[in-house]
Amino acid sequence: MPLPKNEYVSNVWKDGIFANKVVFCTGGAGTICSAQVRALVHLGADACIIGRNAEKTERMAADIATARPGARVLGLGDVDVRKPESLQSAADRCVKELGGIDFVIAGAAGNFLASMAQLSTNAFKSVMDIDVLGSYNTVKATMPYLLESAVKHRTDGKTPPANGTGGRIIFVSATIHYTGAPLQTHVSVAKAGVDALAHAVCIEQGPRGITSNVIAPGPIGSTEGMQRLSRAGSTATQGKGLPSGRWGTVKEIADATVFLFSDAGNYVNGEILVVDGGAWHMPSTGPGQEFQYPDFLLSDAAVTGVKGGKKAKL
Ligand code: HXC
Repeated sequence: MPLPKNEYVSNVWKDGIFANKVVFCTGGAGTICSAQVRALVHLGADACIIGRNAEKTERMAADIATARPGARVLGLGDVDVRKPESLQSAADRCVKELGGIDFVIAGAAGNFLASMAQLSTNAFKSVMDIDVLGSYNTVKATMPYLLESAVKHRTDGKTPPANGTGGRIIFVSATIHYTGAPLQTHVSVAKAGVDALAHAVCIEQGPRGITSNVIAPGPIGSTEGMQRLSRAGSTATQGKGLPSGRWGTVKEIADATVFLFSDAGNYVNGEILVVDGGAWHMPSTGPGQEFQYPDFLLSDAAVTGVKGGKKAKL
């Protein structure tokens, strides 16, 4: 049974705007990225999503394919963004089976709440490796294909591109590093790196027709991220105290994605599109706030009651 359209994309976009286009997405089985891909597929694209968990990734690909009759969606599991070779094989297979790569979403990420006292060097490195190195590996594996697409779909900003847009990449980041947040050292450092990478891609590849942007989601309800960051993570009705008064929806991130990849986003390059209902302007409502600052930090205790909590060493 296909997911109702209003759960993953708004009605303002024209059907078919991404016809004959292919999106490659890391972390594509996740709650946010799957909505981004589902929206693009609904609007005409074919897709290749990759992930570490084969069963979850294949199941999600089959589900996303229900967004449009005739859609082709590959789900490639056992692919870890930390391993450049497996990522390269996935990108090559995507091109072989679907004909190219026009859009990339670098969405794979790792997160958990932990103070520095609870954060080993390897734990810090794990998140850096997934977020920063994984995003770089994604750029390296897909850039030759994105460049081919950029040549075919270059626009002067006046004439609508005859065959649509292409040669675009979006990195999924966060806002926590703008102000800082307790228990998020590893993710703050990693996401700052992801933002810098997106800007570097814009500067180096922009002259070849690539656009490279960041979407920075705020608290989005019913996502794995919020289950990891908040004890009330699975409740979609949170958000009191935020300027917009609620947590966001995955549809709102998907709409931002459609904008950046569409003809409406041609001249947006090297930009960070924050989609957070104004939340980052209220850092006191960000992740980690449930754990009383600074008392919780001073206790050196491990975080409990959230998904991804630290497992005790046996
Ligand atoms: C402290 C922890 C920990 C915790 C793991 N570690 N969880 N340390 N507190 N809660 C430590 C482990 O003890 C180990 O260090 C090291 O991290 C690696 O752990 P592994 O489990 O071996 O690694 P791996 O299987 O690669 O898992 C990576 C992971 C995991 C990041 C730790 O959480 C993961 O796979 N996450 C992917 C899914 C995910 O996080 N999605 C949420 C994305 S949301 P030692 O020293 O013991 O070897 C998101 C939103 C950001 O990113 C927005 C922010 C506002």
